[in-house]
Amino acid sequence: MGILRWIRQKKYYKRTPVLETERLILRPITPEDAEAAFVWLSDERVNKFMPYNIYKNVDEVLYWINVSLPKTKDCSWGFALKENNVLIGSGSIKFKENYNAWNFGYNLNSDYWGNGYATEAAKRMIEYVYEELGARDFCATHATDNPASGRVLEKCGLVFDHYDEYSTFDGKQTFKAKFYKMHLD
Ligand SMILES: CC(C)(COP(=O)(O)OP(=O)(O)OC[C@H]1O[C@@H](n2cnc3c(N)ncnc32)[C@H](O)[C@@H]1OP(=O)(O)O)[C@@H](O)C(=O)NCCC(=O)NCCS
Repeated sequence: MGILRWIRQKKYYKRTPVLETERLILRPITPEDAEAAFVWLSDERVNKFMPYNIYKNVDEVLYWINVSLPKTKDCSWGFALKENNVLIGSGSIKFKENYNAWNFGYNLNSDYWGNGYATEAAKRMIEYVYEELGARDFCATHATDNPASGRVLEKCGLVFDHYDEYSTFDGKQTFKAKFYKMHLD
């Protein structure tokens, strides 16, 4: 591994504290997680509304873990089941200047949908930036045709604010979307 990549990874691990919920550990994603992450990053159902292209092989996931993820300034976590340390999803939260709020998102292996895991993880990310980084305003967007994500936002306390839209990075697809927000004192 090159020295620059190594330094970036160190910084990523340092700014990603290990957090706990009732059933999950939120922790940095490591190269050992590549196979587990490939399961959802290669799944059409999971990525239908994502701005990036579906992942075609584990090497692309390794590039994301080794290069892309450590370069971002987001707080990004992998979500692992406490009972067996299996990585079932990931999420991130970051301050968006244009909204003056902390924007967050999440992805989950479809085998684990419908068990409240995304809500449990999202609430913990919110709690962390609220308590440790002084965050008070939160926002998130989901595709109108992806209501499960909107339900997660509602369960986290966010409320619908306005309709919006977003496009994939390659510009080939545009999704109608709903923008949610929340202010905490
Ligand atoms: C969105 C996603 C993260 C939800 O994960 P999850 O762990 O199943 O979420 P939870 O179990 O915490 O909550 C899901 C809620 O949506 C509801 N839901 C599921 N499908 C729904 C639908 N078609 N319409 C309305 N609500 C729906 C569930 O009933 C549940 O609400 P409830 O607890 O009130 O019953 C998961 O489906 C996913 O990874 N989807 C693909 C990636 C994605 O869309 N990420 C978000 C991008 S903005």
